[in-house]
Amino acid sequence: MSVLELARPEILAMQAYSSARREAGQAEVMLNANEAPWPPAGTQTDLRAMSLNRYPDPQPQALLDRLAELYGVGSDQILIGRGSDEAIDLLVRAFCRPGVDAIALSPPTFGMYAVCAAVQGAARIETPLDAQFGVDVDTICESLPDSVKLVFLCSPNNPTGACTSLAAIKRIADAMHGRALVIVDEAYVEFADVASASRLIARHENLGVLRTLSKAWALAGARIGCLLAGAEIIALLRKIMPPYPLPTPSVSAALAALTADGMAVTRQRIALTIAERERMANALKRLPGVLEVLPSQANFLCVRFEDAPRIYRNLIIAGVVVRDVGRYPGLGGFLRLSIGTREENSRLLERLIQGEAAA
Ligand SMILES: Cc1ncc(COP(=O)(O)O)c(C=O)c1O
Repeated sequence: MSVLELARPEILAMQAYSSARREAGQAEVMLNANEAPWPPAGTQTDLRAMSLNRYPDPQPQALLDRLAELYGVGSDQILIGRGSDEAIDLLVRAFCRPGVDAIALSPPTFGMYAVCAAVQGAARIETPLDAQFGVDVDTICESLPDSVKLVFLCSPNNPTGACTSLAAIKRIADAMHGRALVIVDEAYVEFADVASASRLIARHENLGVLRTLSKAWALAGARIGCLLAGAEIIALLRKIMPPYPLPTPSVSAALAALTADGMAVTRQRIALTIAERERMANALKRLPGVLEVLPSQANFLCVRFEDAPRIYRNLIIAGVVVRDVGRYPGLGGFLRLSIGTREENSRLLERLIQGEAAA
């Protein structure tokens, strides 16, 4: 059975939009896309050099090649989207029939899987994380109904911070073979001490991995994220993607970050973030009012406070905003603290100490 048999039949059957860029080739006079023939007025010099009057390449080969090298897959095994959010949305649209199919997820986890399922009219089958915030692999492997077409695993998980082992991912992919795609969201994997699941794609045709330049690569504003998966899944999703998803300045920023110099800077920053995460975890554990700091493999800490609403309010007054994740199942009393610069982290700690002293 081809993995494509899991996709919605109407998506398999439909004709994709043919973008004007495909037929442009080496043409000197481009009159096929109703674009303006001159650069936009009022843009800065560096933007003027980017031909912003022209539609961008739907999937620029230079960026595909760079990301393929970075992630260790073929360039036909990558879909670049507007953040990994777009890839999540496209997967749900392509594989879940409204009112019939479902996604599986393990709450508390990243909210966009549920949002995309709701927009598509797909049901949600939830297998909650266990008491230690680990994925319940047995239940996922043994109890998911046939309606599930996509199993989302977030590793490291947002907002709790723990990774799912490659052995567990393999087991789930095997159990779902012929039934569902398993999508491992690795938005934070650069901060983790585990290898990426992308190395499993070659052996598991029903496995996909989400990566992003938004976190470790400091490019959240550029909106560049990817799905890594078998070439036929990538080709299917390209069919339903809007024709010109990647803004030219974003592609240019991504290519600049992925040069040798850019990578050296990024590696240093990742090391710094990990060191700061450990410093903060140790300092927080010693603070009065802190009940629990979850072990984290990401660039954030999930922390349980005696009085999280008060801490949250006091921090806002002090000009520091963190994420209140208390509404997530199993996370009552928790706040999620992103790791910032050393100075920002120290400021957060000072405010927490002052707040406790005043309480
Ligand atoms: C686990 C996870 N996946 C995906 C995303 C979306 O990232 P992107 O900026 O690539 O859309 C986020 C953003 O916070 C996230 O936490």
